[in-house]
Amino acid sequence: MTLVRSFRSLLCALALQSLVGAVAGAQVTQAEYAARRDALAKSLSGDGVILVLGNREPKENFQNFWQSEPFNYLTGFLEPDAALVMVKKGGTIEQMLFVEPRDPAQEVWTGARLGVEGVKPKTGMTGRVATALRATLDSLLTQGGTLHAVGDLSRGGGADVPGGTTIRTADDQFIDQLKLTHRNITVSDAGSVVNRLRGVKSPAELALIRTAAQISAKAHVQAMHAIAPELAEFEIQALAEYTFRRNGADGPSYGSIVGSGPNSTTLHYNKDDRFMKAGEMVNMDMAAYYGGYSADITRTVPVTGSFTPAQKDIYQIVLDAQLAAERQVKPGTRFATLNDSATAVLRHGLTTIGLIESPTATYDCGNGRSCPQLSLYYMHGLGHPIGLDVHDVDVGFSSGAPLAVGSAFTIEPGIYVRENLLAIIPDTPRNAALRSKVAAGLKKYANIGVRVEDDYIVTATGFERPTSEAPRTIAEIEKEMARKGPIPARDAATVEAYKKIRP
Ligand code: GLY
Ligand code: MN
Ligand code: MN
Repeated sequence: MTLVRSFRSLLCALALQSLVGAVAGAQVTQAEYAARRDALAKSLSGDGVILVLGNREPKENFQNFWQSEPFNYLTGFLEPDAALVMVKKGGTIEQMLFVEPRDPAQEVWTGARLGVEGVKPKTGMTGRVATALRATLDSLLTQGGTLHAVGDLSRGGGADVPGGTTIRTADDQFIDQLKLTHRNITVSDAGSVVNRLRGVKSPAELALIRTAAQISAKAHVQAMHAIAPELAEFEIQALAEYTFRRNGADGPSYGSIVGSGPNSTTLHYNKDDRFMKAGEMVNMDMAAYYGGYSADITRTVPVTGSFTPAQKDIYQIVLDAQLAAERQVKPGTRFATLNDSATAVLRHGLTTIGLIESPTATYDCGNGRSCPQLSLYYMHGLGHPIGLDVHDVDVGFSSGAPLAVGSAFTIEPGIYVRENLLAIIPDTPRNAALRSKVAAGLKKYANIGVRVEDDYIVTATGFERPTSEAPRTIAEIEKEMARKGPIPARDAATVEAYKKIRP
């Protein structure tokens, strides 16, 4: 895509944003899918056959079908048992989409199919019936050459399972069969090339992420209005997921986490089945999935609507850590710099409130190793990219790649004070000293688990935070929670815009 074209698409996206306020209705066009396929083919050197396998039909027709993300990224085609084949030869690229044929009897069960004849008008590719895939590949690979494969492929021979056997995925087995028939082909896994392309978000993708984030933030505001002692965690989960759907989202982007009291200290607690009590915090990590794109947001609030002094202590440290990281966000900054800023605040704050001995203090974490005391309370990463997946493909943040305009990711520091912390650290003289020093602090802060998570998109001058509608300072949260009231009418503009993409 040229600079002029991408700038024009950006202007279109911005114009749409001002129309509906939430950029709802944006979608990835067939031209964009075609450009992605083109970029993949051009990134692979020499001639060859590119095979991208979609996910298979679930075993039972009442199970949800989930399209493979690389396949979705390259085609936008959301039916099962499909495959994309591109033949790159002497500067030309032939593209075929293999799909299930129309079948009125089967469609009664799982819905209308595009069918072979629908492929060309919709996508511009040649439509072929799925059952012809193997024969087509056999014919294309007769002379040998390179097969660039993208699918659920296990590197290094398959996933290890207890007992020493290895499992080959269905996609592995398909490629294995091809290799048996065509012994002179070279198979290369092109998944990492697709991942690299996915790392750079287009204006349409950013618009979808933005909408997912905005709907998610609305759900958190709703939750803040509803939370009260004796409400069940699952009622908040239900309210949030209802808010996602009625605002046009496809559903939750991951299992919604609503953890009150002790559950607030369990990172991926998603049973959501406890009744919350006055005096506790409730940690809510719930976000929407919209038009195929994921948001990810956490707010942690007091069940009564008012923070206790102890809850304020922990909350403020976590929020300050997020703000310290956030201040670093701009093109060219490495994610490690955000991480350094956030962890410095956490280390200092935990020292001040007596939960660790000093910012750099360590403890015996077993097998003769020393670990930072910080990791007793903060044991996950600062954030991750978001996109088609909530933990989207690694775009090199962890290995030092700088943030770029359009990078979309979370910043989500946390402090989790587990009641049984002292019981689970190894019994050593060093840890005995630590135990006695932090016992009082642990008692004071036990069962307070706080995470503050927002979504960010890097702009030329800094960042935007599309989850900003959800209050996050102590004062803002207390003010929002005091606003009890009925669930407001749905966001009509967002739903109207959504109708345009999914009539
Ligand atoms: N909701 C999953 C995460 O925050 O990474
Ligand atoms: Mn996250
Ligand atoms: Mn999250």
